[in-house]
Amino acid sequence: MKIFLDSANIDEIKELERLGVIDGITTNPTLASVTGKKFKDLVGEIFSTLSDDKIINLEVIATDYDNMLIQARALSALDKRVVVKIPCTEDGLRACKTLSGEGIRINITLVFSAMQALLCANANAYYVSPFVGRLDDISSSGIRTIDDIRTIYDNYGYKTQILFASVRSLEHILQASLSGVDIITSPYKFIKQMYNHPLTDKGLDQFLSDWKNANQEFIV
Ligand code: G3P
Repeated sequence: MKIFLDSANIDEIKELERLGVIDGITTNPTLASVTGKKFKDLVGEIFSTLSDDKIINLEVIATDYDNMLIQARALSALDKRVVVKIPCTEDGLRACKTLSGEGIRINITLVFSAMQALLCANANAYYVSPFVGRLDDISSSGIRTIDDIRTIYDNYGYKTQILFASVRSLEHILQASLSGVDIITSPYKFIKQMYNHPLTDKGLDQFLSDWKNANQEFIV
């Protein structure tokens, strides 16, 4: 399973890029805005922070077909790592079909149902982004939606990749991996929680103290 960082924060991107465990990042207009940076400057910083093999998801802000095409083509032309996020609206689905036909990779975002995801696949989306946490927030089952999308895509051999978005907990990441999604995009704090464990810290302390007490010497 690929792991994306759901953030436009350069410090977070730098740290996890250095760690070597992320395959790319996702941003959205909210995440870009909270950085306080001009979008153009922010995008430039993101490009220079991530290596050549990473995926960078950038979102259009246009809501009509014609302007979605203009913005998506402009974002895509910036860098070969860019996947363009477009919202799951009538104009968005239409734009996805057109842009995918031009070879531009589209991530349809703000997806909340398996029926939306079915149309995204028919529109040749590269990624579909169901917002699991936001479904859970309204007491709807986000995981059930993910399972339904997986089943539908497998039934018909759709190539669209499922990108589990709106992560709220480590449990979400576990459920995502068990349900067979292609990618998860997680906030920084949950990726940190994935590798931090108190028993790892406790075990390491014990190893080092036993070593010291025995006056051991290492080979180099
Ligand atoms: O990037 C899209 C998505 O992951 C947003 O998540 O936490 O705002 O529901 P959230």
